Amino acid sequence: MYLRHLQLGSFRNWDRVDLALSPGPTVFVGRNGEGKTNLVEAVGYLATMGSHRVAGDAPLVRQGASQAVVRAALRREDRELLVEIEINPGRANRVRVNRAPLPRPRELLGLVKSVLFAPEDLVLVRGDPAERRRFLDDLLVSRTPRLAGVRSDYDRVLRQRNALLKSGRALLKTARMARGDALATLDVWDGHLVDLGAQLLAARLRLVADLAPHVTRAYAGVAGADAAVAALGYASTVPLAGDGTPVPEGTPLPDAAELAAALRERVAERRGDEVDRGMTLVGPHRDDLVISLGSMPAKGFASHGESWSLALALKLGCFALLRADGDEPILVLDDVFATLDADRRAALATVARSAEQALVTAAVLDDVPAELRRTVVQVAGGQAVPLEGNSAEDAEDGALREEVR
Ligand SMILES: Nc1ncnc2c1ncn2[C@@H]1O[C@H](COP(=O)(O)OP(=O)(O)OP(=O)(O)O)[C@@H](O)[C@H]1O
Ligand SMILES: [Mg+2]
Repeated sequence: MYLRHLQLGSFRNWDRVDLALSPGPTVFVGRNGEGKTNLVEAVGYLATMGSHRVAGDAPLVRQGASQAVVRAALRREDRELLVEIEINPGRANRVRVNRAPLPRPRELLGLVKSVLFAPEDLVLVRGDPAERRRFLDDLLVSRTPRLAGVRSDYDRVLRQRNALLKSGRALLKTARMARGDALATLDVWDGHLVDLGAQLLAARLRLVADLAPHVTRAYAGVAGADAAVAALGYASTVPLAGDGTPVPEGTPLPDAAELAAALRERVAERRGDEVDRGMTLVGPHRDDLVISLGSMPAKGFASHGESWSLALALKLGCFALLRADGDEPILVLDDVFATLDADRRAALATVARSAEQALVTAAVLDDVPAELRRTVVQVAGGQAVPLEGNSAEDAEDGALREEVR
């Protein structure tokens, strides 16, 4: 898949931009603060309907405007896909695909496949579990769009169950109601929590098992064959779903029914604590993806360089996994070459050259390996202008792309 055309209106610092793009690598170059990251952030938004930099949508809308528009023409094999998103902070987004409005914006998820690697990804290794859960769930939804509904239903059930637990606790405190009455409806919510939570858990376990070998391979490629081995494990509040130890390839995974039974049991065990604390303590919303290097967890142990390489390997692992699924994702590399050493630059350049399309940003063109610099777009003064002398794709690249797949 590649982006043939990108149009932004009132997105971040862009009043309006209209940009034709070609397959293969394109470098966006410009001084700090000119809007390079903003451009590729919009590409990421097409895939995840979220930003890799901020949680909400409000910062994406140009100051003074009330809505932002991202419009993209994508090509997948010989099919053309026109995607239009109206970003309305505080209200529902509006999405159209090939000019037909989608009943629910989230139906877009999974259509545009892209993998974005940016300095912010360091939090995947060093940050809170919530970052890694979001990483897993975004990838999950990209591979299996149906799970977007499961994820949002689970979040809704969780909010309602938490509200109930909180009000139950308050009622108990004032002793106006018996424990049983105050929490009578909790059973209903337990059922929803268990059903949706088990589906999410089963899907996450499958994903971690599918992704792990790609991440291990990508890390060896980035850090060198003699570096420690990178591995993934899933640490769950439901013991059956894992304690964070990497599971050997090919190990049978528990299915959704087994996970539901285990989750139900755990919810019953923790109910007293949940009532005391007024929140849901068991379920996928409390789990974590454990990234380990050798025999140690990366978080708290890996060096800065190792953490960077792990973050990169996670994203290259996603790229390889989506590819193995039969999709050619758009690879987006935001401002990453400047911070990599020569070997890691070369490893990343090889992957980027093999991508059907790679969008690369840099403040200094020389930081980007020469083999990726055939098409350069200058970003300055609110405009994105292709530089003269950009060459068309050559035959050798096609050959290389075949070779690396
Ligand atoms: N909602 C918004 N409205 C207007 N301007 C915005 C908005 N959000 C961000 N900006 C501006 O966009 C600019 C940052 O753009 P961006 O992060 O894309 O820069 P960049 O070209 O990637 O720079 P660097 O090389 O430093 O990474 C900043 O000047 C910021 O003030
Ligand atoms: Mg930037």
